[in-house]
Order: sequence, then structure tokens, then C-alpha cells
Amino acid sequence: MLRAALTATGRYFPTRVVPNSYFYDDLGLETNEEWIRSRTGVITRHFADAAAGETTSGMCVRAAQQCLERAGIDADQLDGVIVATITPDQALPSTACFVQEALGAKGAWAFDLVAACSGYVYALAQATSMVRTGLAKRVMVIGAETMTSILDFEDRNTCIIFGDGAGATLVEAKETGGLEIVDFRMHSAGSGADLLMIPAGGATHPASAETIDARMHYVKQDGRAVFKHAVTRISQVIVELLEGHGMTASDVDLVVPHQANIRIIEACGRRLKIPMDQIAVTVHQWANTTAATIPTTLDWALEEGRINPGDNVVLATFGAGFTWGSALLKA
Ligand code: COA
Repeated sequence: MLRAALTATGRYFPTRVVPNSYFYDDLGLETNEEWIRSRTGVITRHFADAAAGETTSGMCVRAAQQCLERAGIDADQLDGVIVATITPDQALPSTACFVQEALGAKGAWAFDLVAACSGYVYALAQATSMVRTGLAKRVMVIGAETMTSILDFEDRNTCIIFGDGAGATLVEAKETGGLEIVDFRMHSAGSGADLLMIPAGGATHPASAETIDARMHYVKQDGRAVFKHAVTRISQVIVELLEGHGMTASDVDLVVPHQANIRIIEACGRRLKIPMDQIAVTVHQWANTTAATIPTTLDWALEEGRINPGDNVVLATFGAGFTWGSALLKA
């Protein structure tokens, strides 16, 4: 098996920054600053403007270009592009194909991966397996979302949580350097499907006047139920990963969790006895960008000097499906 390493990162957030007051002042929703901050941790989020090229693929391209620049390689050296997203530009073809073309990644295959908030961790595992077995040398793994395209701005329980953005990471076969990608644990439970989903727009309920009138193309969630499952599953899957390597929480230098909600992150920290200063948090500035939270937060953590040589870094996530998973990286 070859050594797979995460060697560079990049991110892109739309230029429009939206404060919490947008929901109560501009949209007239019955909510307020204190409720949103205390229940979610979110202070601002970014909303994409498709007319300015801030589509899901457009944001992927900008994040990937930054990543390639930092890695010092050209797009035509990529063997593959994986985009984890639940908000593709179109249903067909994949967003990854638009990204491959715009980057000029002429020799790369490209596909999208759908695992909601767990999409990036799943995609990283996919790329890692291909790199370790020699099926690919360099894969661009991106998590990107235009969540505003599927938010119901009349649903105060949901629309306040999410934002748009993209994070890109390069996975390469490298004998030394980068963050070594050590291992993964991944799970799913379709029994949770009804608790977090978009009812229409697929083959079961194709778009029709009725589905639009019934607001069936927007994200629906049972927030309280999702919250409980997220805390339990994220904590469990981190312990499972660490135990598999004879490690405990005290061996972890930094956790980069999915940025669903500050209270979910804090509850996991308490359960695992990992102090908050060893957990990377960006939810206050970027909100929940679904598949993009982990690669953007990882990029931020590297930029902030939060990852040092020898560090054990754990990625952990939970999302619709349900899906959840963790990854162990060694700096
Ligand atoms: N502003 C003010 N009040 C709101 C509100 C808002 N934006 N949204 C909901 N409320 C109200 C509810 O209607 C409820 O009122 P009621 O008691 O009169 O019925 C009250 O606040 C409490 O609602 P509840 O759902 O229990 O709040 P909560 O503390 O669970 O917080 C979420 C709601 C959605 C923030 C929280 O459940 C959550 O973050 N869940 C996880 C969601 C998530 O992360 N999804 C993505 C997973 S990847």
C-alpha cells in the first residue's frame, strides 16, 4: 500500500456576508440575535450570488485553484476530481465535471458523491483508497454547497443554520510530508432518513406545481432529533477510530468536527473530555455549509497554525441519511 497524504488545502466563501439580523429585520421572521447565537453559535454566514459565478462549481473551482497553487502543481497533473455536495449545479451532469473542465484538469475523471454533511469524509476515504492502491496519484477532493438553493426562508428552525462555501484538498501518493491519512470509520443508518431530508426533486416526487406549492424542494428537519443523534454518533465514531489505533482522546491534538451547531460541538467535547481549545470551530463565521464545513475548517486550522508536526488530527462528521464518520490524520 502506498502512503496517502493530504498535501494542500484551499477555500472559497461568497463575498456576501449575512448577519443574523437579516432573518428578523429583512425577512421578518420571528427570531432574534440572542436565540440564534445561543442555540446555534452562528453570527454570520455567506450567501452565494450565482450571477457573480458563485455557483457550487464556481466556488469549487476557486477553492481548488488556491489549493493547486499552494501545492505547486498544475490541474493537468490531477488524476481525479471528487465533489461532495447535496447542492449540485444541475441534476445532470455532475458538478465535478464542470469543475474538471473549468480547472483544465484534462487527464482527470470526475464524479460527485452524496453523503450530505458526511460527504467530505466519505470522499476523502474514496480518494485515499484510490491513492493507496495506485489507481490514482493525485485527487482533488472538494466539499461544496450552495445551501441557499434548498433553504426555506419561511422555516426559522432551519434557514438560520446554513451557509454557502467550498473547501478543496489535494490527496497525493507521497512517501513523506503533508498530513498522512491514516484511517477512517464510516457508518450509515437509513432509519433516520425522514428526520433530515428534501422530499421532492428526485424520482419519487419529480418537480411539479404541487411539489412546489407544498414547499417540498426545501430541506426539512426534526432539529431536536438530529441534534441528539449527531452528538451520540460523532462521539461514538471518534472513540471507535481511536480505539482501533490503541489511542484515547488524550492522544488527540486537534478535532476538526462538522460545524453543525456550537452546542453539538461542545456536547461532543464534553463527552470525550476534549477541551474546546483542541477543537477547531468556525461555525460562528461560516455557519453550517454541509459538505464544506470540514475542508474549510481544516484549511482555516492550517492557516492559523493550529496543526504542528507530529499532531494527531481527527475529522468527525454526522449528516442526513443518517451518515457519520471519522478520519485520523497524522501531521
Ligand atoms: N428563533 C426563535 N425561536 C425558534 C427558532 C428561531 N429561529 N427556531 C425554533 N424556535 C422555537 C421553536 O419553535 C420552539 O418553540 P416552542 O417551544 O414554542 O415550540 C423553541 O424555539 C425550541 O425549539 P427546539 O427545536 O427545541 O430548539 P432547539 O434548542 O432544539 O434548537 C435547532 C433548534 C434547530 C437550532 C437545534 O435543534 C439544532 O441545531 N439541531 C440540529 C440541526 C442540525 O444541525 N442540522 C444539520 C445537521 S448536519
